[in-house]
Amino acid sequence: MVTVRAPATSANLGSGFDVFGVALDRPADVVRVEKANKTTIDVTGAGSQYIPEDPEKNTVGAVAQALDAPARIEIDKGVRPASGLGSSAASAAAAAVALNVLYDCGLTRKELVPIAAKGEAVVSGDAHADNVAPAILGGFTIATDDGITQIDADISFVTCLPDIVVSTRSARQVVPKRTSISKVVDTVGKAATITAGMTRNDPELVGRGMHDTIVTPARAELIEGYDTVRKAALQAGATGVTISGAGPAIIAVCYDHAQRAIANAMLDSFAEFGVESRAYQTHIGDGAQIF
Ligand code: HSE
Repeated sequence: MVTVRAPATSANLGSGFDVFGVALDRPADVVRVEKANKTTIDVTGAGSQYIPEDPEKNTVGAVAQALDAPARIEIDKGVRPASGLGSSAASAAAAAVALNVLYDCGLTRKELVPIAAKGEAVVSGDAHADNVAPAILGGFTIATDDGITQIDADISFVTCLPDIVVSTRSARQVVPKRTSISKVVDTVGKAATITAGMTRNDPELVGRGMHDTIVTPARAELIEGYDTVRKAALQAGATGVTISGAGPAIIAVCYDHAQRAIANAMLDSFAEFGVESRAYQTHIGDGAQIF
């Protein structure tokens, strides 16, 4: 039996839609695999009642199939589905790393990224790698068509997850099909600023780059209270705030000492809208770990 813990992740960071991702040190999924003649899946933990156990419909089933590695798979969810915190990616990444060891496939961590991304396609319709790359490799990742770049970075965040469900599929439907060249220019500049901030471990630069005028405004409509929560986090000391992945979680970048105040401000702001929420004071962390 092999057991692997894979972390929550936050994709996009505003200006890096479908490209940027960070591994967060909490929460996480734990996946246990054992050789079997055919794949079976048991899911427990946060939001497990919404996750299909049929291998044809489960992100992890697609990973087992891609590796030709049938197994009895137990998933203990720490990352709630439809959260914007890379729930399916955490399970897919953990399964890819675990099955690679169980069946001695000999693939490198980078080679496992496109395998785990096949699991993402089951959930969202697209095999994008911006969540699975950091879930497997850790740190800050840049996923493009020609490969993955990984940077170890040390940055603090607060994520706040409201008790609202936004499916990745519906959040992708509202993404504009066209935009203006001025918004593209602005986004390229902001994305470059985030990358510079990550290499310097500078929350001011990361925060300045997290603003996005193309995708985030359309998605913010799906999250009750988004503008108020964002402003409250900025007032409490966040250096930048945006939607985490496809939402509804909101991610704030900050200096370590401001985490608690930001978490409380975000929780209180959601409460003003009658929305319960949960905050995680977290940092950029490691990728999937084998126990
Ligand atoms: N980049 C993806 C999106 C992440 O924003 O739709 C969600 O899986």
